[in-house]
Amino acid sequence: MARSFDTIVVTGGAGFIGSNLIRYLFEKAGYRGRIVNLDALTYAGNPESLADIAAKYGQEGEGRYFFVKADIRDRASVERVFADYRPDAVCHLAAESHVDRSILGPEAFVTTNVIGTFTLLDVAKEAWKGRGEGETLFHHVSTDEVYGSLGETGYFTEETPYDPRSPYSASKAGSDHLVMAYHHTYGLPVTLSNCSNNYGPYQFPEKLIPLMILNMLEGKPLPVYGDGRNIRDWLYVEDHNAAVWTIMQRGESGRSYNIGGENEWENIRLLGRLIEIVAKEAGLDAGELRSRITYVKDRPGHDRRYAIDCSRLKRELGWAQAHSFDEGLAETVRWYLAHKDWCARVRSGEYRRWVETNYERR
Ligand code: NAD
Ligand code: TYD
Repeated sequence: MARSFDTIVVTGGAGFIGSNLIRYLFEKAGYRGRIVNLDALTYAGNPESLADIAAKYGQEGEGRYFFVKADIRDRASVERVFADYRPDAVCHLAAESHVDRSILGPEAFVTTNVIGTFTLLDVAKEAWKGRGEGETLFHHVSTDEVYGSLGETGYFTEETPYDPRSPYSASKAGSDHLVMAYHHTYGLPVTLSNCSNNYGPYQFPEKLIPLMILNMLEGKPLPVYGDGRNIRDWLYVEDHNAAVWTIMQRGESGRSYNIGGENEWENIRLLGRLIEIVAKEAGLDAGELRSRITYVKDRPGHDRRYAIDCSRLKRELGWAQAHSFDEGLAETVRWYLAHKDWCARVRSGEYRRWVETNYERR
């Protein structure tokens, strides 16, 4: 029997994956309940990404979408959201998410990813006392980076021991352990997913794919870390969100599911493919773009290869990727070409002023 939910709190819903998830739930998944988007609006959070969704499903529309500016580290704010909206599910995406930033400033990663997750779990446990399996669910969105780094062969399975190597992945590993501890110790109904690298619309242009697209369009160098031969397994964001929704509905409580693209690319090869697509879509010269590839100093502790075995999710819950890489990349490039204003605003900080004028601080 599939679970159904009346009110889902999505944390980090103003970020890349969270905004795509909210859009997907309302517009594609046929979700009929309410969504409360709880987000602190850090540099990575931009409610403008959901302006159309807010107009259609918010207070002026169907009255099923709510935005609350709040920090998951602030227990009183999280308690207030539970008291005001009485959610029966949490889908937890709020996090500090960029590895390079975690190397420069790890503290926010520990406070948000570890303590913030703890705070949410603890408030959910208290709020859901007396309501057990089948009535509530805490879904935690995590990363394959908790498993560490692979050599040339092998795959991460759900049984692979955790071996995080960056402050980002260590903080996500800590949050994963707390989620499972709350299940085993207090009986909190939880599901957990560990996903490979996502790409798609609304991704903050500090991550590889949008950064490269914008640098190509703006005539800037294309910085490749180290020898460019690190490997990532890429998945279109909507395929990730379809998997998360599948797991929330039908995943077994207390279990984790790997989500992946089965789509491994060396960074330098991926960049070559991206150059061809940008050249075609934007009418630029591929040779000139290639001449801007610049090898730069490697990221400290740079994980060599990630590759996901997602056969549990495919076999047990029937999920499958729906977008090919070429299709997804072309779609993404077209989105960034059509949303240069969004890119300029997230980078200039102008969206912060937009936030101040469009949302009341709670
Ligand atoms: P993102 O950086 O684009 O968005 C994160 C969001 O969380 C932002 O809206 C930000 O404002 C919010 N946030 C940050 N700190 C907060 C706090 N203390 N309180 C409330 N909100 C806060 O991240 P993303 O790429 O969308 O990733 C979402 C989740 O998915 C993260 O948990 C990440 O670890 C996980 N994940 C990401 C990828 C990927 O490739 N991007 C892959 C696997 C898993
Ligand atoms: P990133 O998008 O930061 O994701 P993650 O580190 O979480 O996998 O980086 C993806 C890969 O691209 C990673 O191997 C680092 C590399 N990279 C570059 O070579 N140049 C860049 O400018 C960036 C941002 C990343």
